Amino acid sequence: MRIAFIGGGNMASALISSLFASRHIVDRVQVADPGEGVRERLQKRWPVHCFETAAEAIQGMDAVVLAVKPQVLPVVLDEIGSLINSEQLVISIVAGIHTNQIADKLESDSPIVRTMPNTPALIGLGITGMYARVNCSLAQRELAQNLMESAGKVVWLDKESLLDVVTALSGSGPAYFFYLIECLRNAGAQLGLPAEIAAKLALHTAHGACAMAVQSDSDVIELREQVTTPGGTTEAAMDMLDMGHFEHLIDLAIRAATERGHQLANDEVWE
Ligand SMILES: NC(=O)c1ccc[n+]([C@@H]2O[C@H](COP(=O)([O-])OP(=O)(O)OC[C@H]3O[C@@H](n4cnc5c(N)ncnc54)[C@H](OP(=O)(O)O)[C@@H]3O)[C@@H](O)[C@H]2O)c1
Repeated sequence: MRIAFIGGGNMASALISSLFASRHIVDRVQVADPGEGVRERLQKRWPVHCFETAAEAIQGMDAVVLAVKPQVLPVVLDEIGSLINSEQLVISIVAGIHTNQIADKLESDSPIVRTMPNTPALIGLGITGMYARVNCSLAQRELAQNLMESAGKVVWLDKESLLDVVTALSGSGPAYFFYLIECLRNAGAQLGLPAEIAAKLALHTAHGACAMAVQSDSDVIELREQVTTPGGTTEAAMDMLDMGHFEHLIDLAIRAATERGHQLANDEVWE
């Protein structure tokens, strides 16, 4: 595969790193980024070809990965919208921007795959929600899937609007787990544990529980029930979480993030 990345920041670096570490054959990777330091760093670490402008980087590539911040995307598409041809697959990892907003800025009827990765992609443990427009061929879907799968798991959605829910759940999701670890460690420290011991207990409990949930054949409800003895300590904690309507709060939080995703897509940068 021959892939151009527009933007050589955090997410692009994670994908490039995973791609070269994967079993997939990578024929050529080109990156556009205005930062000279960014280009030098990328070229030092991986066999990539870097350019200052997107127009140079997309030439001769099978796929063009849009990996810039949402507010920069209109500028990038104004630059390359007339240069991308209908054979080139456009893969967007830009949060909140719809494929029809991208298509409107392209001169050709190029196939577009929109994706929503998350930051654990940086260590190969990401999960990406993916949506393909109808004009994407099977081979192009496979190309996009191979790229994103090199940084973790993928799920395909057949309705683009569901990507806003994916953004709220797994895109923003790492922050919720980090927050839970923070709350647990603070509670332990408040109750007298040395701060570094409380932090270690919270972190490795989260790590162990998630690894167990991933590996186990049992549903998380069953795993939770296995730890919850009637009348025991876990039940006392769970009762308190229920009294504070924890599940309802999480539901409200994911709804708020989904709604924010809708709003961002309608931001004035596209007017
Ligand atoms: N981080 C996440 O958790 C996450 C998760 C899912 C999706 N995403 C999406 O991934 C995208 C990239 O995020 P990121 O965290 O990787 O951002 P980032 O680290 O800021 O990388 C973006 C890069 O694009 C460069 N750039 C700016 N203008 C450009 C242009 N005209 N042509 C080419 N490159 C240009 C930036 O350079 P300057 O810094 O010099 O402007 C920067 O190096 C965002 O749209 C975000 O929504 C991020």
